[in-house]
Amino acid sequence: MKTQKLAIIGVGHVGSSVLATALQTELFGEIVLLDPKDKVAWGEGLDQMHAAGLLSRKNIAVHIGNYTDLADADIVIVAATHVYPNGEIPADRQELLTENLPIIHEIMTNIVQNTQSAMLIFITNPADTIVYIAATYDYPRNLLLSTGTMLDSSRLRQLLGQRYQVDPKSVSGYMMGEHGFAAFPVLSHLTIAGISYDKLSTYFPEVALLTAEEIKEKVVQAAYDVFAAKNGVTNVAVAQAAIDIARCILLDEKSIFPVSVPMTGHEYHFAKPCAYSVPCVLGKEGVEKKLLVSLNSWEKEKLAESVASIRKSIILTE
Ligand code: 2OP
Repeated sequence: MKTQKLAIIGVGHVGSSVLATALQTELFGEIVLLDPKDKVAWGEGLDQMHAAGLLSRKNIAVHIGNYTDLADADIVIVAATHVYPNGEIPADRQELLTENLPIIHEIMTNIVQNTQSAMLIFITNPADTIVYIAATYDYPRNLLLSTGTMLDSSRLRQLLGQRYQVDPKSVSGYMMGEHGFAAFPVLSHLTIAGISYDKLSTYFPEVALLTAEEIKEKVVQAAYDVFAAKNGVTNVAVAQAAIDIARCILLDEKSIFPVSVPMTGHEYHFAKPCAYSVPCVLGKEGVEKKLLVSLNSWEKEKLAESVASIRKSIILTE
């Protein structure tokens, strides 16, 4: 039986967290690591291979590789990024574009020469612009996405779970738009046990209802709290998001995750193409369906702000 193969491109803070999470899931029989700093990647691989001896699935091959290893990869997770010196925090993820743009061009040039069938999951920021750029290459559109607001959505569920003292998994809701300052909660479709957000006070009178704007601010700020405390890095939650996506696709689970995908513009009546997060059905064909949910007027306004912000950065690449 063919074992599932994962390739991780960029084995820094995020990539090594992806590797750790991938090993824990025991989904993959082979994991190949690509990083210009071969030695560090090798050390990371070796360290984590030592953990593999403690897992129930013992026959996981982790090795350093190159782009030809992508030929039979099922999933490629791109975590490569410029790292600011001394844990500096970029004020806005969009600032990473200048440094990360050539990195993504180099990676995509190599990917398309070696595979047309692996699912590409991008973590590299600015997430939306990066997936937009990736989609300009000759590669199947359904096979590329960025983790986008899947991470922000988890932060949203965590925030509301804590406020309402319920398991975050019992909060059904998501953030859409830019993975950045313009991300917004889609409260018009958020429920807890099927109770819509505006009805929650009936069941939880002790909890003050936050406005959509307040929730947005708290979720967006959450990343910066982690950056500030971890020397400019967030890595664990985004790695989990990437591996959840990989699992869903490999096992054809058809889960609906908010992920960033290329958009023509027509979907929500924007003049220009872009890429941003919408809830998508994911399965063995990759992005199988984009759910173009109806939005209220505040949400439409926020989506327009997201698109404007991402387009500003796309224009710099043209
Ligand atoms: C995050 O939101 C760094 O974009 C990443 O944690």
